[in-house]
Amino acid sequence: MIKKKDRIIEDFRNKLRELKDHNKYYFKDDSPKISDSEYDKLKNEILKLENKYSYLRLEGLASSLVGSTPSNKFKKVKHLKPMLSLSNAFDKNDMNDFLKKIRNFLNLKDNDIELFCEPKIDGISATLIYENGSLKKGLSRGDGVFGEDILENLKTIKKIPKSLKDSEIPELLEIRCEIYISKKDFLKIKENFANPRNAAGGSLRQKNPEETAKIPLKYFAYGFGSVKPMVFSNQSEFLKKINKWGFEINPLSKKIIGLEEIENQHKKIDNLRSTLDYDIDGLVFKVNDLNLQKRLGNTSNSPRWAVAYKFSAEKAITKIKDIIIQVGRTGAITPVAKVEPVTVGGVVVSNATLHNEDEINRKDIRLRDTILIQRAGDVIPQVISVDASKRTNESKKFKFPVKCLCGSPTVKEVSKSTKKEDAVRRCTKGYDCKFIAREKLKHIVSKEALNIDGLGKKVIDQFWELKLIREPSDIFNLNYEKIKNLEGWGELSIDNLKKAISKSQSINLDKFIFSIGIRHIGQENAKILAGFFGSIKAFCKLFDEKTRKKLLINLIDLDGIGETQTLSIRNFFLNKTNTRITNNLIKNLKIQNYIVQNADGKFSNKKLMFTGGFKSMSRSEAKAIVENNGGKVLGALSKKLDFLVVGESKPTKRKIDQAKKLNIKIILEKDWNNILNS
Ligand code: IVH
Repeated sequence: MIKKKDRIIEDFRNKLRELKDHNKYYFKDDSPKISDSEYDKLKNEILKLENKYSYLRLEGLASSLVGSTPSNKFKKVKHLKPMLSLSNAFDKNDMNDFLKKIRNFLNLKDNDIELFCEPKIDGISATLIYENGSLKKGLSRGDGVFGEDILENLKTIKKIPKSLKDSEIPELLEIRCEIYISKKDFLKIKENFANPRNAAGGSLRQKNPEETAKIPLKYFAYGFGSVKPMVFSNQSEFLKKINKWGFEINPLSKKIIGLEEIENQHKKIDNLRSTLDYDIDGLVFKVNDLNLQKRLGNTSNSPRWAVAYKFSAEKAITKIKDIIIQVGRTGAITPVAKVEPVTVGGVVVSNATLHNEDEINRKDIRLRDTILIQRAGDVIPQVISVDASKRTNESKKFKFPVKCLCGSPTVKEVSKSTKKEDAVRRCTKGYDCKFIAREKLKHIVSKEALNIDGLGKKVIDQFWELKLIREPSDIFNLNYEKIKNLEGWGELSIDNLKKAISKSQSINLDKFIFSIGIRHIGQENAKILAGFFGSIKAFCKLFDEKTRKKLLINLIDLDGIGETQTLSIRNFFLNKTNTRITNNLIKNLKIQNYIVQNADGKFSNKKLMFTGGFKSMSRSEAKAIVENNGGKVLGALSKKLDFLVVGESKPTKRKIDQAKKLNIKIILEKDWNNILNS
């Protein structure tokens, strides 16, 4: 006899499968096969079952399936300025580091900088573009560079002004905001969504704005994108002004100075958190002065002038069922604890990272142990500690494997600079290890690399299992006949995939260099290398052993590229599989030359080097100024240098003498200041 529980699970699975199909017909193919009310009925049945029988929650995350399926409905539009993310801080130390870094960058030794603090709303970000005071565009964040046109849906939010009337309104005004659903309103619709954030996302992505209008969305404006002419001088004044113009701003925002005030505000708002009618997951601290913000600028993903100070993560107690090994794209062997499923902050967790062998030993983590885990934001849950008092004789020490899952021996590398042994074991087989190869493929299709929509991690896993894909060039020769017969793939989704793949074939040199996954070459270094090589033709000289040697010597001169990076590039190109795979990939791509962002800048195409400190600015700021003006900063003196910039504080005499010998133009600190002010 079939048990009742089994029958319920079976029924639930069938319904889930059905919903998945209808999601695809509705969102992806745009050809629904059932009426809206039938669809809603099915959705509600699933959610009701899930609410009633908690064991169903482990069955496939029904709630995440409902309402949040991305659609291809919306037009993609390039943001006027990229929508960046924020770097995170988790404790007082991190905040101290943030303060130190900005002080160092701005060369303001002991002065405390005025910050502006706002709650970090846990919603969905959007940007509103006003031309001569009238709302013309509304975009979702998308991948930060391209957003989706969701203007009509945003317009349904009553408190978003549709036109602005004030003599001071700039011709172009772009307002960045966070859209959310209040906790109270969420209660009314909670059967349909996992949390308020999902609900807001689902509502904003409705293809019919009338559907969006049914769900009460709210927002807080927190920043700006493009503004012409610029009429603001600091964040606090900006918010005050836009509030006067009709935008909603968060009432808990405040000017803050110094670490103690930061800590107090963090504690105060954390205590208030549960009483607020919207979800917040931390505080954002921003340098208040917009001139200083401009000087600080951005790194590749986040502004240097702001940080998100997160509230402490949600914790839960569970038990380790097993410890398995995962292999990352760099060959890193990561132990992962398989735990008894437990809900942490509304999400069912069944895996937690153990980081590395040392961490397991330090925390004395054993199989079958009772542990405390924590989940912070979107990062993979971590094991915080073991409750040794609950240890039984079932618990067993974990023997860390010295071999990779592919069977090859692993190594712990010794750092070139610190001479210390790495805590992480690695497989060094690169593409020759099938576990690494699969992860490398996931990297190559990711947003920051080839950015292929519809070819995410799960699809790579599926295509890998089916041997449809083994190395990057296979992406461009997929067997669509086979894919057509797979569950979840219809003609429309295949067509979309083909389009996304074809779009990805035109790629900038820096993204290409990042995508091939040379160890120690992240996005920033890939840009530096792209700036150095300029074209794929020049980059390909790395394939030839003789030219490679010369190039590697030259690369050391680049500021940011050190011995670790050059050695890694050398090793990458010494490996025959890497060169074959990279060559095959290049054949499938149209790689665009690297264009110096600011070709007409003050230092365009010039190479500079610094010695000595400046009174007015830090070395990092000086470097950022050169790069923002089209120049390059070198780390070593050579004939190729155009200028040696000599700061007044302790310049190296040897460098000045050498520069003079090589006929390199010397710029003194006062000349440097004159150039910047000219
Ligand atoms: S300032 C990065 N202020 O957090 C550009 N962001 O992780 C500056 N957010 O995409 C962002 N409340 O959607 C800022 N008061 C606030 C915010 C806030 C929520 C979101 C925003 C952004 C994300 C960054």
